[in-house]
Amino acid sequence: MKSSELRQSFLDFLKGKGHHIVPSAPVVPQDDPTLLFTNAGMNQFKDIFLGARQITHLRVADSQKCIRVSGKHNDLEEVGRDTYHHTFFEMLGNWSFGDYFKKEAIAWAWELLTEVWKLPKEKLYATIFEGDQADNVPRDDEAADEWKRQTDIQPDHILAFGKKDNFWEMGETGPCGPCSEIHIDRGPEFCDNDDPAHVCQVNGGCARYIELWNLVFIQYNRDETGALHPLPASHVDTGAGFERLVAVIQKKASNYDTDLFTPILTQISDLTGKPYSDGEEGVAFRVIADHLRALSFAIADGAIPGNEGRGYVLRRILRRAARFGRVLEMHEPFIYKLLHSLVQVMGDAYPEIVQRKEYIARVIRAEEESFGRTLDRGIEIFEQKAADVLQSSETVFPGDDAFVLHDTFGFPLDLTQLMAEEKGLTVDVAGFNTEMEKQRQRSSRAHSV
Ligand code: GLY
Repeated sequence: MKSSELRQSFLDFLKGKGHHIVPSAPVVPQDDPTLLFTNAGMNQFKDIFLGARQITHLRVADSQKCIRVSGKHNDLEEVGRDTYHHTFFEMLGNWSFGDYFKKEAIAWAWELLTEVWKLPKEKLYATIFEGDQADNVPRDDEAADEWKRQTDIQPDHILAFGKKDNFWEMGETGPCGPCSEIHIDRGPEFCDNDDPAHVCQVNGGCARYIELWNLVFIQYNRDETGALHPLPASHVDTGAGFERLVAVIQKKASNYDTDLFTPILTQISDLTGKPYSDGEEGVAFRVIADHLRALSFAIADGAIPGNEGRGYVLRRILRRAARFGRVLEMHEPFIYKLLHSLVQVMGDAYPEIVQRKEYIARVIRAEEESFGRTLDRGIEIFEQKAADVLQSSETVFPGDDAFVLHDTFGFPLDLTQLMAEEKGLTVDVAGFNTEMEKQRQRSSRAHSV
């Protein structure tokens, strides 16, 4: 099944269960100051859960564009190093606004995964919330019972976990609730954890068991003080990471080997003259392909790189991608050219990137050009300083050097941290912050004279 067919089959299945299909909301949230980027399918429905907006349909489904690079959900560090984290991803979701609840959500997820998409039942696991005393939320026995009643999952494949894994919240505040996740065991050959003490298991920290779908039972609102308040009605909010599903259904080891990414990787290869391979160059291919998607969709939806807030997140992503371009020996702007293959892959599902293609390319190119002017010199300086540190058998890259890289060469702190980490070093963040503060004081004094 092609990725476009899989996306459509999800929507068709839910339509058959009485859901109204809605378009993805923009990746730049509208009227929600608690979020820099849309990080889950439920964001656009937050006010409905809170009872602050009228509903027009009790059941809806969509494929939502999401970005997770800041706040509560932040996957940036993992991206490129493994094969299944992304800054930008699509989330398939279905919602019930005070209509169906755990029974149907569980039964339909199982039906779609095992009857329609034919995933092997014996490889699937369901998790439920074990409860939390501090929040005064009981163990979710109701979900466990529905798994037993509605499906033929192996009873010993129903597992309970705590708040970190099975209580879902979009941010520090807002609608939230216990969740029930479906994981698949892809087999021991997928384990990528080389810690000798590691044991492969659900939520065990390797790529063998991966989460496919999260069924959230929205029952509470968390307020600014951290207290939970029961909502007047119970809702369903589900999220299935599309790229992972495509990989599993297309029987690919990596999300990047699916048809969502291969045209982009091929174009990177064409432009750089390098094959997509293992090792550091492979990481660079994946980072660039991933970051291209985040940048393009964010820019299409109205964000632009800048020095603050959302704009700075985009700038960090772009600069990270540009630096990985140097790993592939690309010294001229080239990321903007990849829009060509991105539009081929995603343009039908998301026409906004077709309509705004020229604009997105212009914005990315301008950013690549401006950072390109200082990037090579910054890398040289970083290499010298890092060599000095390593030679003196230290493990900490000095904060004042990280500040110079930031201030003079435009290196976001997390880029310097990433480069330091590749050499087994950490950055003295406190020292960096002290220099930032000194500079802030210098500039406020300069403004006051
Ligand atoms: N809101 C469900 C999820 O993001 O997993």
